[in-house]
Amino acid sequence: MALIMDGNGRWAKQRGKERIFGHENGVEAVRDTVKAAVEIGVSYLTFFAFSTENWCRPDNEVNTLMQLLVDAIRNETPELNKNGVRLQAIGNLESLPHSCKKELMDAISLTSQNNKLIVNVALSYSARWEIANAARKIAEKVKNQEISPGDIDQDLFSNYLETGNIPDPDLLIRTSGELRISNFLLWQIAYSELYFTPVLWPDFRRKHFYQAILDYQKRERRFGKTTEQLP
Ligand code: FPP
Repeated sequence: MALIMDGNGRWAKQRGKERIFGHENGVEAVRDTVKAAVEIGVSYLTFFAFSTENWCRPDNEVNTLMQLLVDAIRNETPELNKNGVRLQAIGNLESLPHSCKKELMDAISLTSQNNKLIVNVALSYSARWEIANAARKIAEKVKNQEISPGDIDQDLFSNYLETGNIPDPDLLIRTSGELRISNFLLWQIAYSELYFTPVLWPDFRRKHFYQAILDYQKRERRFGKTTEQLP
């Protein structure tokens, strides 16, 4: 499953507070969603935490958000270990501030033996950046004659994406009522079911997560086939 956590700024504004207050309260929503996912046996959760485009936000918001991520990663690592959760990250991690990258790498290493749930955090991530990157890496391999153009198919291409070791999401949830994808996992969601909820991210709790899954369970996934062809 994948989640676009949206609406933190609006949630804070509704309360007459700075936007960062919404991000701070968004951490509790992440915590509750992760716990619920462990309890019901979800295998992968990918959170869109910071997009390539988010670097254009005011410096103050970017810096405070980075510090919040450092603190959240540090504080949550023991709980992740307790629940058997392995942390991974996708995105242009080189562009993160040193402290954020270090905290992230430490947590990734400290949780690397866990296997109940993989929590994948997208940081400084955008799907077009990822796809262009994959194309460049493949082009280099072709140039070095390590692969030939005829070898390039969908499976090979997928392996060069940031999510190489993670299956495509069955369900993508976006909070806050916005009906768009915002450059998230464009390749991977080709056949994902989409679920949009008006709930703002800081208010998102396990009951909303379960509602999304119940809605998903009612859908018929045909992958281009007809109903009659399905098993
Ligand atoms: C979008 O709301 C949210 C973000 C850009 C940041 C999300 C980050 C967190 C919740 C921090 C914790 C995350 C982890 C994985 C520990 P917005 O600011 O775009 O809200 P708006 O659309 O109402 O302005």
